[in-house]
Amino acid sequence: MDFQKIGVLGAGNIGIGVVTDLVLHGITAVVVDVSEDILKRAQNDVLNNVRFVPLLSKTLPRITKDQALQRMLLTTHLKDVASCDFVIENVTEDWSIKKPLYEKLDQIAPPEVCFGANTSCISITQIASATRRPANVVGMHLMNPVHLKPTVEVIRGFHTSQRTVDTLLRLFSRLNKEAIIVEDLPGFVSNRISHLFMNEAAFVLQDQVATAEQIDSIFKRCFGHKMGPLETADFIGLDTVMRSLDVLYESFHDPKYRCCPLLRKLVHAGHLGRKTGRGFHIYP
Ligand SMILES: NC(=O)c1ccc[n+]([C@@H]2O[C@H](COP(=O)([O-])OP(=O)(O)OC[C@H]3O[C@@H](n4cnc5c(N)ncnc54)[C@H](O)[C@@H]3O)[C@@H](O)[C@H]2O)c1
Repeated sequence: MDFQKIGVLGAGNIGIGVVTDLVLHGITAVVVDVSEDILKRAQNDVLNNVRFVPLLSKTLPRITKDQALQRMLLTTHLKDVASCDFVIENVTEDWSIKKPLYEKLDQIAPPEVCFGANTSCISITQIASATRRPANVVGMHLMNPVHLKPTVEVIRGFHTSQRTVDTLLRLFSRLNKEAIIVEDLPGFVSNRISHLFMNEAAFVLQDQVATAEQIDSIFKRCFGHKMGPLETADFIGLDTVMRSLDVLYESFHDPKYRCCPLLRKLVHAGHLGRKTGRGFHIYP
């Protein structure tokens, strides 16, 4: 299999990065979302990403706007992924949305096709249970911006077969990424730890121990991190961070994962981080 055409479900924050990476590497992406408007906006964001590649990377392929456009097939119909040889799912981090989608996808995709679940926290074993092909479901936790990140966390669900892992590794080799393969429990490695970190930073802000700028500056200037915890949350999207914390809380029934009320309040106020121009910080 040479990955001619890959289905990408969900053209939000991370889906845009996934499509960017695929088209840069000569793979056609069949991009599915719920509305034409979302798809059009995603297409523009991908074109912007492609335009900035020469400034941001020495190694990524350079492609023209026309090549990028030719490699993106936008659709609101899930059935259009029937001819894809792999499917990457990045829809909203909500089981009540993902479950029916996987059930439908399972009916549409040929039985040998593998599904890569790009979830932040939901168990891959749970996702696989919504299909009749649990051996073909694997977790692929990509980091943002996808095309600029060389390493991916890959999660082996309870039933994930070696063939499926090998298929995903072949895809990553095409995308010049290396994988760190871990076992399946909600949040895996990265988000089980990083969401505690971002959530606690929100509590520190809520308790007025320091401003958002001070909290992030301490991590950047004292620890040498590239981004502070609140900036990281803004970058991911506060709605996604909140939903991920809710998944962790529900999964482990451990109060350490309770979502900070200030974080939830910002989400309800529509301040979702970079994608809406305001979260813990304001973005011009
Ligand atoms: N944001 C990140 O940095 C990041 C990183 C890794 C993984 N993830 C995971 O990726 C997924 C998406 O996160 P996001 O931050 O891009 O969220 P987002 O809210 O920005 O985008 C989600 C997209 O899914 C679409 N969608 C919802 N239901 C759909 C359906 N039935 N069919 C097709 N599209 C549908 C929405 O319209 C939206 O465009 C989540 O599971 C999240 O945990 C996010």
